[in-house]
Formats: sequence, C-alpha cells, structure tokens
Amino acid sequence: MAFGGRAAAVGAEVDVRDQIVAFKRKLAPRREALKRAYADVRDHVSRTADIILREVAAGRAVVPELDYRDIRNNTVPEAIGQSIRNTGCAVVRGVFPADLAREWFAEVGEYLETNHYEEREGEKRSLDKYFSALKAGKPQVFNVYWSRPQVMARQDARLAETRAFLDRLWKYEGVFNPDRQCTYADRVRRRQPGDKTLGLSPHMDAGTVERWIDPGYQKVYENIFAGDWRGYDPFDATHRLKTHEIPSPAVCSMFRTYQGWTALTRQGPKDGTLRLIPIAGGIAYVLLRAVQDDVDEADLCGAAPGRALGVSPEWHPDLIAGLVSIPEVMPGDTVFWHTDICHAVGDEHAGSEYASVIYIGSAPDCPKNRTYLPKQRQAFLQGRSAPDFAAMDFEVDFKGRATEEDLTDLGRAQMGF
Ligand SMILES: [Fe+2]
Repeated sequence: MAFGGRAAAVGAEVDVRDQIVAFKRKLAPRREALKRAYADVRDHVSRTADIILREVAAGRAVVPELDYRDIRNNTVPEAIGQSIRNTGCAVVRGVFPADLAREWFAEVGEYLETNHYEEREGEKRSLDKYFSALKAGKPQVFNVYWSRPQVMARQDARLAETRAFLDRLWKYEGVFNPDRQCTYADRVRRRQPGDKTLGLSPHMDAGTVERWIDPGYQKVYENIFAGDWRGYDPFDATHRLKTHEIPSPAVCSMFRTYQGWTALTRQGPKDGTLRLIPIAGGIAYVLLRAVQDDVDEADLCGAAPGRALGVSPEWHPDLIAGLVSIPEVMPGDTVFWHTDICHAVGDEHAGSEYASVIYIGSAPDCPKNRTYLPKQRQAFLQGRSAPDFAAMDFEVDFKGRATEEDLTDLGRAQMGF
C-alpha cells in the first residue's frame, strides 16, 4: 500500500490456504534448520531492538541521517551507507530549501480549497459504497496526484540525486538503473492537529502472503527459507522484479527500492507521523516466525491477501519492541524506508500544526516500472487518479493542475514521455 490507509479498504477474495499448506509441506524436511534459524534471527532482532531502545533513551539517533549537500558533494561517509543497509531507512536533510517546501504546502492548500476538494470527496463518499465504508471525518490524506507542487517535487533534480545515492546502496547490476527514476504518482498527507483517524498499526507493504507463496518472492527470500537468514541480503535486487503480488487496492504495481516522503511542514514524534522498526533483517524474523510448528498449517501469523502485512505484538513481540518514531524533520527534509521495513503511523497528532508530506518513494528505471508509465501518463494528461489508486478522479476539472508544460526534461523522462 502506498501508505495512506488503503490497506484496510478491500481484501482480495482469494483463497490461498491450499498454497500455504503446500508451501509449508515443502519446507517440512527443513523443520529443524528453520527452527534454529528462527531462534538465531529472534536473538539478533531482540538484541538490536535493545540497542535501539538504549540509544533512544540516551538521545541518540537510530534512523541514519545525512545531508543532501553531502550527496551533492559526494562526501557521504562510508559508514552512513552501511548504517542505511543495516537499518533499511534514512532521513535525508535539506533536499529542498525549507522556504520552497513551505510554499508548496501553501499551494497544495490553495489547490484543494479553490477546487472544493472536501465537498467533492464528501459527495463521492455518499455515492460510493466502497468509500462510505471508510471512516468519516475530515480527510487527512488527499486523493490528488497532479498538483503543481507534487509534480515539481517528483521531477526535481535534487530528489533524483538523493534517490540515485540510495539506490546505489542496492546490488542493482542487470536489474535496474539507479541513476534514473520512473515517476510513481502518489498522494498528499495533510494531517490536522488533533486528528485521531489516520493512525496505522505496524505493517509492511508490497505483499502479504505472497512473500511466502509466490515463486518470485520465494527466490528473493531463498536463503531465509533455506535456514540461512544471514545469507540473505535485503539490498540484493536480483530477483525483485519477478515477484507477483495478488492484485488489490493494497499493492503497488511498481518495484520500489524505498517508500518515502518529502516533508512540507515540521513534524516530530508527537505529531502523528511515521514510526519505523530500523532493522533490515526484521523481514527474516517475520518470514521464519510463520513457518514454525506452533502456527497452524494453513496460517501465516494472520497474513491475509489484499491487505498490508501486519506485524503484531502477538506474533512478533521481539520485532515490535524496536518500533521508534522518526526524528523531528523540517520542511524540505525527506524520509525513505526499504520496501521490507515495518512501519506505522502514530495514532494521534498531538501537535499544534499541520503535519504534511508528499509521498515520493524511489522507483528506479527497470522493465517492470516502465510498463506502468503509459497508463500513468494518460492519467496525468487527463487529471485522473494514478492507475494503482481508487479511480476517484477528482482532479479532472481542477483549476491549477500541473500540465505537460510544467514538466522539465528530467520530469518528461521520468514520466516516459
Ligand atoms: Fe505502509
């Protein structure tokens, strides 16, 4: 899911019980090895979570932070790259000047107001059964994709450099081009102070049961399922383009090296913002937990098709222990997290100002991502919702929407024009 609450919307009605049972039976001869591997990864995760909590208590950063200027000047210390690989996440400071981000915040606000977004969404909700099932109340995530600030931010050369740096931490040879991006248009969060509707419990996106039963994912996680979780490299992209997610409104059709966003306003730990478990190996713990003997043969610790993959206190206490808030970020800072990183959104925005972001992750150029571009380009030209998202199409007649003339050469290339 692209981070704003689509997870709970529609569960794909797919029966995967037989496939789960078949997969577990295939693993049965390795039962002892998988038991040992789980004990080992559990120990690793517990120790790492303890360290994270100690560091937090001592006021030290646990999410790696770097400065955009160091990316620009090619002066990022080697250790930072390693720490991003270990934690699966990063805060990149000052990608955009704070004043520019603040202007964008104001401009998005005007765009929504001039075009009566809230009324329009209200009408849509009462007409549409699907949306009436969602929580009422003022929207906090806005289904707009093509405001000028969104398009400007996505195509900005500074963000392109930032993502190239992060994508180069992957083993990408022959899989994707880290120096070129494909646009993945997503929405905007403008969370009001006091809001209690937007919280999301800890989860991972990009597939649930697929991570066990899809042959593509089985290749990605081959070492883990062989009992050698330390031989698994989360940053090896070799088999990542071959995964097949069960179609549903909860999955992203593109391959994203990282999910991410750009902050338009200041937001800190109390402002109902992002929380993460900065342990890249956490996925191995989740995968191995579900294939232990005490889990029903047809169950994967509650994983269900068409939803986000929940990480729960019941099944994953050792991992949940490492859940921390991102540090305070300022307008123009960005946050990125690896596609297998567990994340959550704080239940309550207890601050006094809007907490606003534009969702922009990293979808590097590769055959899989290129196939998404033509339909997204059409959506852009017509002002419709991006292809992966519910077809609310609010912006078709919105004034001030970005047009082809707003695209730079880089923006055109990223959109596949
Ligand atoms: Fe998410």
